[in-house]
Amino acid sequence: MPVTVIVDAFWGDSGKGKACAHLATTLDASLAVRAGVGTNAGASFTLPDGTHVKQRQLPTAWVNPKTQLAVGPGVLVHPDTLLSEMERYGLQDRTTIDHRCGVITAEDIEADQQDQFLRDVVGTSGSGVGPARARYVNRTASQARDHASLAHLSTDVAVEANRRAAAGEEVLIEGAQGTQLSVSFSYEYPCTTVKNCTTAAAIDDVGLNWRHLSDVLLVVKAMPTRVGQGPLPHEMTHAEAEARGIAEYGVNTGRPRRKAHRIDDDLLAYAAMLNGPTKIALTFTDHYDPAMRGRTDPAHITPRVRDLITHVEEVTGAPVTMIDTGPLLSHIIDLDR
Ligand code: IMP
Ligand code: MG
Repeated sequence: MPVTVIVDAFWGDSGKGKACAHLATTLDASLAVRAGVGTNAGASFTLPDGTHVKQRQLPTAWVNPKTQLAVGPGVLVHPDTLLSEMERYGLQDRTTIDHRCGVITAEDIEADQQDQFLRDVVGTSGSGVGPARARYVNRTASQARDHASLAHLSTDVAVEANRRAAAGEEVLIEGAQGTQLSVSFSYEYPCTTVKNCTTAAAIDDVGLNWRHLSDVLLVVKAMPTRVGQGPLPHEMTHAEAEARGIAEYGVNTGRPRRKAHRIDDDLLAYAAMLNGPTKIALTFTDHYDPAMRGRTDPAHITPRVRDLITHVEEVTGAPVTMIDTGPLLSHIIDLDR
């Protein structure tokens, strides 16, 4: 079945990038396309050789050398970030971006970081996506095709994704941010990002015909986190997270992530309703139960995490097929294999 979309149930930072990298290998994906807002995303995981991968723009699916990489037309591009990720991971020969991608400028970043409302009330990532998106919607932004440094990478990603899917090739769509940050689905506006972060939004970011969609992998973080302002149900103190050795810091901003003791069932049900998952990836289970750290064998899932899996399956109506157990790419239990 050709197209899998990966989206997040809560506020992001749940391991979508790692799930995408894993699936690129296990499904031997022909193409992976980044969806989502832009470079406000930050994905991180560690490769077997110890390389710590951190990226904001391109799909993490590059870990499979046969997978082609693309950025969908709905995604904002920051040229320096894009080009440096291509260079860092040697992706020059297999990266394309859509020629219609809006381009984030230095002024957008400056405005995002200096604007008092964006900084203090919204708590943005400061990556310029809000000001750039405002200009794009206002039709004053430039597009990738207008930039000499990007023109040679630019193509019609919508055509390419639909063509490969129609030919039965495996395509991955890597969403970004999280459902609860969606600008028009969150109950907490203005503490949101600048677009929706759902399945429908992700396929729209790419221009994928919905008929090609076969799977939606909803990534559910066992102990949800939030960066920036807005409510976080069941929030623990940062001191407790530190004391338990499970404190987290943002990939882009270094900001401490606010962390919850547990999943909020109402928000999980809402995320399932909006996204229609066919599969669930339950991530950061080693934070929820330290005994899970680094496990790879389905026989070694602890009773505590077994109970959580049953509960998440009841709330979402979808099976947990992937269980993340630590920071290495290999720290995964894949029940689909
Ligand atoms: P912006 O998307 O940078 O404008 O930030 C708006 C809100 O969304 C802030 O609370 C950010 O912390 C949050 N946010 C945006 N992108 C991400 C992400 O990829 N992971 C986690 N939080 C995000
Ligand atoms: Mg992140």
